[in-house]
Amino acid sequence: MDKHFGKVFSPSDLREIRNDFPILKVKIKHRPLVYLDNAATSQKPQCVIDALDRYYSHYNSNVHRGLHELSELATTAYEQSRQRVAHFLKAKESCQIIFVKGTTEAINLVAQSYGRPLLKKDDEILITALEHHSNIVPWQVLCEQTGAKLRVAPINLQGEVIQEEYEACLSEKTKIVALAHISNALGTILPIKAMIAKARAVGAITLIDGAQAIPHLRVDVQDLDCDFYAFSAHKVYGPTGIGVLYGKKELLEAMPPYQGGGEMIQSVSFEKTVYQNLPHKFEAGTPHIEGAIGLHVALDYLHSLGYEGIAHQEHELLLYATELAHKHHLRIIGEAKEKTSILSFMVDNIHAHDVGTILNHYGIAVRVGHHCAMPLMEFFKVPSTVRASFAFYNTQDEIDALFEVIPKVREVFQ
Ligand code: ALA
Repeated sequence: MDKHFGKVFSPSDLREIRNDFPILKVKIKHRPLVYLDNAATSQKPQCVIDALDRYYSHYNSNVHRGLHELSELATTAYEQSRQRVAHFLKAKESCQIIFVKGTTEAINLVAQSYGRPLLKKDDEILITALEHHSNIVPWQVLCEQTGAKLRVAPINLQGEVIQEEYEACLSEKTKIVALAHISNALGTILPIKAMIAKARAVGAITLIDGAQAIPHLRVDVQDLDCDFYAFSAHKVYGPTGIGVLYGKKELLEAMPPYQGGGEMIQSVSFEKTVYQNLPHKFEAGTPHIEGAIGLHVALDYLHSLGYEGIAHQEHELLLYATELAHKHHLRIIGEAKEKTSILSFMVDNIHAHDVGTILNHYGIAVRVGHHCAMPLMEFFKVPSTVRASFAFYNTQDEIDALFEVIPKVREVFQ
């Protein structure tokens, strides 16, 4: 997997990269698949698919339980993945990496294990107006349980969090600040380092929903100084069903377990159960072993491509798509100065589902709907949008294919 591409992918690099993804050769309705739904889930390179196959064909076994060879192989691979993730996020120690089902479970874990024992009536949790439901609902549940209040920092019409308003929402009442690193519906990149510092200044802890950021940006949790950072493997070219919660060690150590069961205990009796140390205290039950193994390979794959090349390619695609969107007089939803890889738009007043259905007819996969961000759709006064989201393996030709269909959509609905 030693690719070592430059800071800009050449056309032959891009061909080679596309060849790593078998699904990109699939035909949809007799046309080449144009996959522009990467923010929903990314496609998997062959090396990730092979790693899963190798695990099941050669060393499928449970972890941390057997003394036999296969179990040791599986345990080593599972724990090596934890170390890889720690290195990837620049965490101090691998015990700060908790494997969970995905970003959603990570946020729920923090809400219930950190927030529930601590929060009291009239404490405040601060989020922003552009959050995904998974960074809204767990906090609403926590508010119902504790009497805390949910506050929402507003955004402007470009889809950027208004920083003065964010600051005005912070006070000594704020106990938790939970922020998207990148908006899944708009592509806005939030200035989270500064926002984390402001939250810290009032004594709040911070959780960053990194689901959309990890595929595009290099993240250093120590430099950010966030208390928690969450992401999902499937958005970053790894398997579905596994994600990561990073946490500061002293917080994780002080928190009670999220779930009880096997794996997370040192000893059990009917009188008293002693929990495992980190990270196992938070990993009840048989974990997603092959998921962790696949994530390790996915992160190695990303590393081999290099974030510079990835960022350059994705930025070019976004610029190109935005230019074409203007040319075709589309209404773009979300025009933040700092944004990445996502173009949300409306074609006149045509319902996004109708646009998506016609695009599918031409083999083009986009997401249509509210993107699990209903309050954000309400802010922009739209029921839904068409969202094209790009990955480094996409091409300008694929974006051309998308925009060639727009006049056909208008013809059908005029
Ligand atoms: N959160 C994913 C998306 O934005 C599913 O599409």
